[in-house]
Amino acid sequence: MEQQEWWKETVVYQIYPRSFQDSNGDGIGDLRGIISRLDYLQHLGIGAIWLSPVCKSPQDDYGYDISDYQDIDPMFGSLEDMEALIHEAGKRDIRIIMDLVLNHTSDEHPWFQEAKKGKDNPYHDYYVWRDGIEGTPPNDLTSTFGGSAWEWVPEIGQYYLHLFSVKQPDLNWANPKVRQDIYSMINWWIEKGVGGFRLDVIDLIGKEADFKITGNGPLLHEYIRELSKETFQKGKELLTVGETWGATPEIAKLYSNPDGSEFSMVFQFEHIGLDEQEGRGKWDLKPLDLMELKDVLSKWQTELKGEAWNSLFWNNHDLPRIVSRWGNDGEFRVESAKMLATLLHGMRGTPYIYQGEELGMTNVQYEIKEYRDIELLRFYKERMEKGYPEHEVMESIYAKGRDNARTPMQWDDSHQAGFTTGEAWIKVNPNYTEIHDAENVQNPDSIFHYYRQLIQLRKDHEVIVYGDYELIFPEHPDVFAYTRTLHENQIMVVCNFRGETVQLPLQEHLSSSAKLLLANYTDMLPDNELRAYEARMYLMQNN
Ligand code: GLC
Ligand code: CA
Repeated sequence: MEQQEWWKETVVYQIYPRSFQDSNGDGIGDLRGIISRLDYLQHLGIGAIWLSPVCKSPQDDYGYDISDYQDIDPMFGSLEDMEALIHEAGKRDIRIIMDLVLNHTSDEHPWFQEAKKGKDNPYHDYYVWRDGIEGTPPNDLTSTFGGSAWEWVPEIGQYYLHLFSVKQPDLNWANPKVRQDIYSMINWWIEKGVGGFRLDVIDLIGKEADFKITGNGPLLHEYIRELSKETFQKGKELLTVGETWGATPEIAKLYSNPDGSEFSMVFQFEHIGLDEQEGRGKWDLKPLDLMELKDVLSKWQTELKGEAWNSLFWNNHDLPRIVSRWGNDGEFRVESAKMLATLLHGMRGTPYIYQGEELGMTNVQYEIKEYRDIELLRFYKERMEKGYPEHEVMESIYAKGRDNARTPMQWDDSHQAGFTTGEAWIKVNPNYTEIHDAENVQNPDSIFHYYRQLIQLRKDHEVIVYGDYELIFPEHPDVFAYTRTLHENQIMVVCNFRGETVQLPLQEHLSSSAKLLLANYTDMLPDNELRAYEARMYLMQNN
């Protein structure tokens, strides 16, 4: 069996602080709000919280533009609140995973304020600058949020690189001083007792702007190994997870080498691109093909075996709600949310739950003026200027807009879903009167309790953590099914992705010892039929 680690055995819960719980009525979630909900998270059973950025930030990209890595944004609270959160979470056996945004800072960071003063300023070389003439950028690199990735600074007659918004200048990792400053900052947070880090768009730090190489640059792994050695490897058992959009299994084996030289694991996004048109990006939609989902997830399950560790996720603050995306958020919302959870939590890897996923929260369809996200608003503007029909643009936004994930957490059916006593910074999903935590916690058949059970099963059965994966019924058009095997123990997971009953000769794989661990329907049909979005998890002991 492979090396045992706490971070392989735990389940992580992601909090997007601005939308989780407001404590002072200003309409923005904050650290005190999170502290007040720790009992809820302990009840759910998770072992770590990945906290989206709470450091000082002008909030141009909602915290992913940091102006002081060693202070908390007043909007979220203070450093004392952060220390209290680490402490209070620790009392409940929950570790805090910080979000490290190391590819870029805010343009309001003192480093950048200095850097743009002149070419001979000691901080100039902290960022990526190129000479040029106004109006003709050095090359045609584009920003993820639209437009050129180069911004002209007339005072010094140079362009700086920003792969995201103009307010997010890219750091120059080729400069050893940048790297050293970053390492001391990380070590400062480790001293404060955080349990690990999620590394934002870390695959971009080895970029070579002149050659238009952004992801997976030539020096990427050299930088990460140095970073890891100077910080993460200093003796604490940290969970580190890199956000790596362009990873293949081969690349993931470098990032997540079991020798601990880089990270614990990575977020890979291959499955996330399955419902977009080839080569066109996330906004150009196509339906999910279940066969492709089986191929991609199975590939990652088998290829990393013994050589790297998977993270398992459907959602995060950048992605639409999974129940609306690949489930059914109408008639079968509860069944399909549970089915998708079963599929993911039965796999090999560390599961991540994104806030509200455990309640079956859904996507929204707002008017354009009700949206807040920089990426979404840029997309709308660009497409409208190009003359796309508005209804088509809105369809893309409904399906993929990041604000789907960022509407306030639905705690109860009172004012603003119990998120704030004031007015939330972004409109609450109008379905909060039906979909909310208070209902979920009371109802034993709720999605929330189902997630609790999944988390508990992972603690009770080593095979769910360490077992080997095998896809079964590979050709079945509607069912995603697999086994996990560790010594004599075997788990079998079967999931129907169709909104109607399908046939499946389950007996082929069920041994006489089979015991049902969990299912999303309470009454059982014969073993060869699965109802709409039905999911089952069996345990077998084979001698
Ligand atoms: C990551 C974050 C996203 C952010 C971007 C730039 O993809 O998850 O929210 O906008 O990096 O930091
Ligand atoms: Ca607040």
